[in-house]
Amino acid sequence: MFSRIDHIGVAVEELEPALELYRDSFQLQLAHREVVEEQGVEAVLLDVGENHVELLAPLGPETPVGKFLARQGPGLHHVAYQVTDIDATLAALSQAGLALIDERPRTGIRGSRVAFVHPRATGGVLTEIVEPAAAAGADH
Ligand code: CO
Repeated sequence: MFSRIDHIGVAVEELEPALELYRDSFQLQLAHREVVEEQGVEAVLLDVGENHVELLAPLGPETPVGKFLARQGPGLHHVAYQVTDIDATLAALSQAGLALIDERPRTGIRGSRVAFVHPRATGGVLTEIVEPAAAAGADH
């Protein structure tokens, strides 16, 4: 069902200091940067081979990532798995009785379709399902 890890999501207070670590010290290539109003974040994707690290900075304290930071501070936020058919994946997970945060896919960065599985269904690991936009192809 899951073809690979698409990215690891990391919650940060501010993007610039995080970029000093991931881009400058770890020397990862910055692949994309986008404000996703619907999710209340500014996101940065960095390439790690064919996978990514996604840095997430909240647009405000009342956003999901803002609340996460207030609750537990910066750090690992979610794991995202890539799929080719997110509708079929969500149907299968729902069929298996897993609690979904998103019953239907919403728009993620770079035109991807994404949905989150509830951490209570996944042993505390917030899990994202990503179907990349067709134009992004298999290499992103
Ligand atoms: Co993500």
